[in-house]
Amino acid sequence: MRAADIQSELTEILVTEEEIAAKLEEIAARVAEDYAGKDLLLVGVLKGAVMVMADFSRHLPASVPMDWMAVSSYGAGTKSSGVVQIRKDLDTDLHDKHVLIVEDIIDSGLTLSWLLENFASRGAASIEVFALLRKPDAAKVQVDCKYVGFDIPNEFVIGYGLDYAEQYRNLRDVAILAPHVYS
Ligand code: IMP
Ligand code: MG
Repeated sequence: MRAADIQSELTEILVTEEEIAAKLEEIAARVAEDYAGKDLLLVGVLKGAVMVMADFSRHLPASVPMDWMAVSSYGAGTKSSGVVQIRKDLDTDLHDKHVLIVEDIIDSGLTLSWLLENFASRGAASIEVFALLRKPDAAKVQVDCKYVGFDIPNEFVIGYGLDYAEQYRNLRDVAILAPHVYS
């Protein structure tokens, strides 16, 4: 669905499907160049990063393995709890791999800083982060993110993989959820 289909549930469209597509192509070109000749592994963070991973990885000009990690820090609310739990671990040994973590959004940064620390102990050759969205004003910890799609205001957003209580992931655009939906 597009934002226009659920207009009354949104207050603002922040990033359109077309803007996302252009940005993914641009970042994929950078990643292809930066990782040429290297043993790259894409690690997606479930479930929010599914759309980013699907579209981003297909812009890469070479075959690249992907693995998935499921963590939770949110429950059904709209604020990060800071408590990270592994729901599904990687299937891949990170030893000597150049890992690129693919994330939907960096909000407080708590999830990613926890993941980075966790991965650091697994012997990867390098670990970098690509986040489609980032909320600079929500940061509680600084996360070194090499590739960022869009910096957005500190609002709860949905779409393109991002959910509210498991809804709205299939929205093609990224939009601010109207407060009446969750209050
Ligand atoms: P953190 O606060 O950076 O730890 O964010 C952790 C996770 O919360 C992200 O990977 C998202 O899955 C989710 N999240 C953060 N902000 C939003 C939002 O605005 N909408 C939907 N999910 C969000
Ligand atoms: Mg996520």
